[in-house]
Amino acid sequence: MAAKIIAVVNQKGGSGKTTVSMQLAGALARRSNKVLVVDADPQGTATRWAASALDETPFPASVVGLSAASTKVHREVKKFIDDYNYIIIDCPPAADSPIPQSALLIADLALVPLIPSPLDMWAAVGIRQVIQNVGDLNDALHSRLILNQCQPKTTLTQESLEILPEFGILLARTQIQHRQIYRHSAVFGQSVHNFGSKAQAAIAEIESLTEEVLEILSMKQDNS
Ligand SMILES: Nc1ncnc2c1ncn2[C@@H]1O[C@H](COP(=O)(O)OP(=O)(O)OP(=O)(O)O)[C@@H](O)[C@H]1O
Ligand SMILES: [Mg+2]
Repeated sequence: MAAKIIAVVNQKGGSGKTTVSMQLAGALARRSNKVLVVDADPQGTATRWAASALDETPFPASVVGLSAASTKVHREVKKFIDDYNYIIIDCPPAADSPIPQSALLIADLALVPLIPSPLDMWAAVGIRQVIQNVGDLNDALHSRLILNQCQPKTTLTQESLEILPEFGILLARTQIQHRQIYRHSAVFGQSVHNFGSKAQAAIAEIESLTEEVLEILSMKQDNS
């Protein structure tokens, strides 16, 4: 097996990269896949997330820290490619870091979590150029924006909707709402699946995202 590789990128800090990485990793692992999260962020948030799990219920995916590999992240990740079904690379927020570019070089899918507020969106528009540049070298690269921390009962502001096309990246069907359970699951080192009925809505979102990701990864290469 050669692992499918998902790079979670956005130079804007706090948009939900680690949250999307770990929830997706948890969901894929629960489906009997071997999943590796590559913590490519020197902040080490994904590593700490997994380390917060109790011994009785370890986080279901492996996490390896590779931020020190810098421009060579793609080479380091390739070493794991035959041992996993999915490799998810949680990238750092720095715009000037070589890590997102390196990760995108070998990725099948770029996921860009985005908070739908004008300030966050303006700060994130630059990721488009990064993905486009790498797309010239990596024909296999699909990409999707994922709206995260959406507020229930409020529609996106007109201003947010106006900025969306500037990303030139397809929008995922699944939106992730702002929910406390996402913070809790980080604190307890788990994905939302471990929190039972109180996490039902979050579990549904993450399962929907997982289905969508699997659909995209099974698509023929058409550069979308
Ligand atoms: N849908 C959500 N609902 C509630 N809280 C969320 C949600 N998504 C993320 N958060 C919280 O927002 C904060 C930032 O999320 P996260 O760490 O995933 O972002 P990030 O993009 O990885 O940040 P960084 O750029 O620093 O790596 C965290 O405290 C996280 O628990
Ligand atoms: Mg992070």
